[in-house]
Amino acid sequence: MRFFSDRERISVAVIGLGYVGSTVAAVLADGDVDVVGIDIDPEVVARLNERRVHFSEPGLPELLNAALDSRRLRATTGFDDVGTVDVVIIAVNTPVREGGLVDVYLSSACAEVGRRLRPGQLVILKSTVPPGVSRSLAVPVLESGGLRAGEDFGVVFCPERLSEGQALHELRTFPIAIGGHDPDAAAAAAAFWRRTLGAEVLPCGSLEAAEMVKLANNWWIDHNIAMANELAKLCGVLDVDVLEVIAAANTMRKNSGNVNILLPGVGVGGSCLTKDPWMVWQAGRDHDIDLRTVPVAREVNDTMPGYTADLVARELALLDRPLAGARIAVLGVAFKNNTGDLRATPTLPVVAALRDGGADVVLHDPLAEPGEVAKLFGQTPVPDVRDALAGADCIAVLARHDVFDELDFAELRPHVAEHCVVIDGRAHYPAATVERLRGLGYAYRGIGR
Ligand SMILES: NC(=O)c1ccc[n+]([C@@H]2O[C@H](COP(=O)([O-])OP(=O)(O)OC[C@H]3O[C@@H](n4cnc5c(N)ncnc54)[C@H](O)[C@@H]3O)[C@@H](O)[C@H]2O)c1
Repeated sequence: MRFFSDRERISVAVIGLGYVGSTVAAVLADGDVDVVGIDIDPEVVARLNERRVHFSEPGLPELLNAALDSRRLRATTGFDDVGTVDVVIIAVNTPVREGGLVDVYLSSACAEVGRRLRPGQLVILKSTVPPGVSRSLAVPVLESGGLRAGEDFGVVFCPERLSEGQALHELRTFPIAIGGHDPDAAAAAAAFWRRTLGAEVLPCGSLEAAEMVKLANNWWIDHNIAMANELAKLCGVLDVDVLEVIAAANTMRKNSGNVNILLPGVGVGGSCLTKDPWMVWQAGRDHDIDLRTVPVAREVNDTMPGYTADLVARELALLDRPLAGARIAVLGVAFKNNTGDLRATPTLPVVAALRDGGADVVLHDPLAEPGEVAKLFGQTPVPDVRDALAGADCIAVLARHDVFDELDFAELRPHVAEHCVVIDGRAHYPAATVERLRGLGYAYRGIGR
């Protein structure tokens, strides 16, 4: 099969302009590829075309705007361009409900693409799916237009492994796993990624192997964080600093690398780690294997918001301040540091528990879209950090965005309550900062610290 190899410029259609699709589109356009981004949601397309990037990903708005200005990137709701490009990348959402994949987005995207495919095109599937779905669902739907995968067009699965907050860097530097429907397609995908991103590629034996790479990554992360969270719970009662333990433990060499315990925190959120492990679990069940580590890790991580709310109440009690009526300033409501993404944010159940205890909760997050915060939390966030902190009995840093490093806790001291506790839900302040906070008269408590 002849792919795009003799083309001077490569053209790509990216289907689905969410977090992944818009990042991939921006990086490819920056690498001098002609990109058309296609999304069924007119609001997503309008926002992009009006330069209203709603992802707070460092560097992404600038990159997208430059790509749109130079016309190397266009966004549209129509699929007609699919028939004219060299490569089609599918990055639509693949949610999980009650353990099962909701495949309607993927199958409708494949149907739109399949209808317009022409010989010599390469389709790269990026949406995370349970093992086997690329072969059993995507390929037949792509073939419904009459062309045959492996004969007329190519199909590969290349998992997207970027993580929000470092997406641009990771997209340009992570090796790209490629599982081909057939060797020609895999070779074409390897040539594409080398040429466009200069990326290292990792050939996988099959579509299924590449699907499992993604799932194994997120299964490992969720499981590892669960272990870190339980380690933190234990260190907390032993009066041992969990970060010191982790830093030292991680110096031990094991096989080709080091032990790598991740950091504990207020909980695991986002659109991937809360669902991908369930894809693994369901795949196990489909083959009569009971994968215990998946539900256990999910359960442990889901205890962390309640654990954090209890920590707030306990620390306030030590200061003779009941939770009821206490003013709690929550800094960072997004699901992790340095993103504004609110999907499955563990801060929501923390805030709910604090409110249930009668606390007066104030929200502040400079990265999250205020309207979305208000919709999710039923409360308008306070735009100015000083206003949010005024009179606070507790400053709960539940996502540490880089801008919070500029907070001057000394200058803020008279501005907050006389007895004020800093709860470190995910800031992982170094020991010197903790000492300084205590020296300034703040109480400090971290997860496992
Ligand atoms: N967000 C992450 O950090 C991340 C990281 C790695 C992998 N993934 C995976 O990548 C995929 C996309 O994730 P995301 O976070 O970008 O999702 P998202 O929800 O932010 O975006 C998906 C986009 O696809 C669009 N869409 C849905 N059906 C469509 C169709 N038929 N045609 C065209 N557009 C369609 C939606 O309107 C939406 O804009 C998922 O499978 C996810 O699991 C996400």
